[in-house]
Amino acid sequence: MTDGHTFVVFGAAGSVGSALVRRLTSSGHRVIAGVRNRQKGEALAAETGCRVQIAEAGDSGAIEACVKVAADDTGTFSGIANCMGSVLLKPAHLTSEDEWQQTLTANLTSSFMIVRAAAKSLRRSGGSVVLCSSAAARIGLANHEAIAAAKAGIIGLTLSAAATYSNRGIRFNAVAPGLVKSEMTRTLWESEEAAAVSSQMHALGRLGKPEDVAAAIAFLLDPANAWMTGQVLGVDGGLGSVLPRTRR
Ligand SMILES: NC(=O)c1ccc[n+]([C@@H]2O[C@H](COP(=O)([O-])OP(=O)(O)OC[C@H]3O[C@@H](n4cnc5c(N)ncnc54)[C@H](OP(=O)(O)O)[C@@H]3O)[C@@H](O)[C@H]2O)c1
Repeated sequence: MTDGHTFVVFGAAGSVGSALVRRLTSSGHRVIAGVRNRQKGEALAAETGCRVQIAEAGDSGAIEACVKVAADDTGTFSGIANCMGSVLLKPAHLTSEDEWQQTLTANLTSSFMIVRAAAKSLRRSGGSVVLCSSAAARIGLANHEAIAAAKAGIIGLTLSAAATYSNRGIRFNAVAPGLVKSEMTRTLWESEEAAAVSSQMHALGRLGKPEDVAAAIAFLLDPANAWMTGQVLGVDGGLGSVLPRTRR
């Protein structure tokens, strides 16, 4: 990607989000980092030179304000990535209404608000929007009902927005990660035993790194890949589509 682009990264202080901010800023791009925690945002800004804005998942005004900062920036405003999100591993009968609502807000509502803001701000210039779905949206994994429903909603949102705004030159794609070693999944890989069990579900035999997902998001943001829209890219070591060989 040539340098000098401006991107917005939401959930920028998270594992994937911060890996993406590092990747984009180290390639000479300007990043508006949407975070909910100011301290984390300031640490990231000190490290990468990104500009920080506070944005909670359910706050459409704050999300629009972040996007407006990018649109008013001196660089070429070229895209938005949503790395906000959560995980909830519980069967439906043990999931409270609060947990269901929080899961929808952090994942699906945040993505809808971002699509809406992008449709307004990028309608003249075009650009790329990348959302985070999950392998869990495409295969049945036990105890994922709420998060799988939210992440499947993101796939529908991506496809419809790609159709609606194609004539404006706005591309909408999603990534669907497998299990990535990040803060939200720490309990699933912290112990050697848990990591081994989880790794075996991935045909490539290892868990993902935040940088694996950040690289795929950067690819979809890149104007060089401007003939891709409406795609859901599995970044999952095979989890969503490949039956692992039995390992001895
Ligand atoms: N890790 C995985 O295995 C995995 C698998 C499939 C999909 N994904 C998706 O990949 C994306 C990146 O996740 P990650 O692995 O980087 O996890 P992470 O390190 O926990 O990052 C998630 C980010 O979302 C932010 N966030 C959560 N709820 C929010 C809310 N209500 N308002 C504003 N920000 C909120 C968090 O803010 P704080 O920094 O303030 O906590 C954090 O920065 C997410 O959409 C996630 O669902 C991850």
